[in-house]
Amino acid sequence: MKEIREQIKALKQEKNALILAHNYQDIEIQELADYRGDSLQLAMLSKDVKTDLIVFCGVRFMAETAAILNPNARVLLPVLDAGCPMADMISGEQLREFKAEHPGSVVVCYVNSTVEVKAESDICCTSSNAVQVLNSIPEDKTILFVPDRNLGSWAARESGRKVIAWNGYCPTHQWGFSAADITNMRQQYPDHKLLAHPECDPIIVDRADFVMSTGGMIRYAKEHDKMIIATENGMIDYLKHIYPQKSIISLSPKAVCQNMKKTHVQDVLNALREEKYHIVVAEEIAARAKKSIDRMLELS
Ligand code: 13P
Ligand code: SF4
Repeated sequence: MKEIREQIKALKQEKNALILAHNYQDIEIQELADYRGDSLQLAMLSKDVKTDLIVFCGVRFMAETAAILNPNARVLLPVLDAGCPMADMISGEQLREFKAEHPGSVVVCYVNSTVEVKAESDICCTSSNAVQVLNSIPEDKTILFVPDRNLGSWAARESGRKVIAWNGYCPTHQWGFSAADITNMRQQYPDHKLLAHPECDPIIVDRADFVMSTGGMIRYAKEHDKMIIATENGMIDYLKHIYPQKSIISLSPKAVCQNMKKTHVQDVLNALREEKYHIVVAEEIAARAKKSIDRMLELS
């Protein structure tokens, strides 16, 4: 492992490359990364970094967003089939039909979506700015929110806006937790606060003390000692690793995203060595998708 890490370090220097990792990646990958973060933080970083190569340890829509925002860098996704099942729950064609059913509405797409869907949307959002994005839309407008019904309905409740949400969801957050898990954990850890990701079902979100993105959870863990967390377990493993003295409890060990677990250290080495897999977004669609991402970034 040490030898692989040395090779990665040398290749990074030789090729002027940076490694970005989402908070759900395995500890080994997060330790290897130059930058870690939630979807918004990584999108902003990839836009700003001056580098020739970005190795994106996450899932496909994140690498595509980086490629759209930074056309000067070659963006590599180390494992080609690291995708997001939620992003694939609505196609560009389905969104066009959804819009035709609700003329005059404003379309907000979660960044966990395909490039085609971003290109058909008015404004993008992430879990850390969804409420702010809804609040930026004129009050007389109906809002179509795709693809995540859970984030859409939570942000609608928080903002008081009328939202028609697409029926998509993240399998990890949807099926990973139950109300019984909360009852059990609250009994075992009565002095811990419950933090939930807004991709969780309302059954979980409505019982949480705080609802936040993974970046928000990382900031919370920096300042607090006791918490139960409802999100993908990779982030909880990493938090426990960096704060071994704190009591950081996973609401359920079932919440694992198989796609986020596909990238291993050897894949990062292969990616750097062979410059694979280069994520290319066709120019015309990239320009349209960029508009919806840029509108979000202007607010952030
Ligand atoms: P954030 O890290 O932006 O909270 O998103 C979570 C997620 O599901 C990424 O796939
Ligand atoms: Fe997609 Fe859920 Fe995995 Fe995030 S955790 S990449 S939303 S399937």
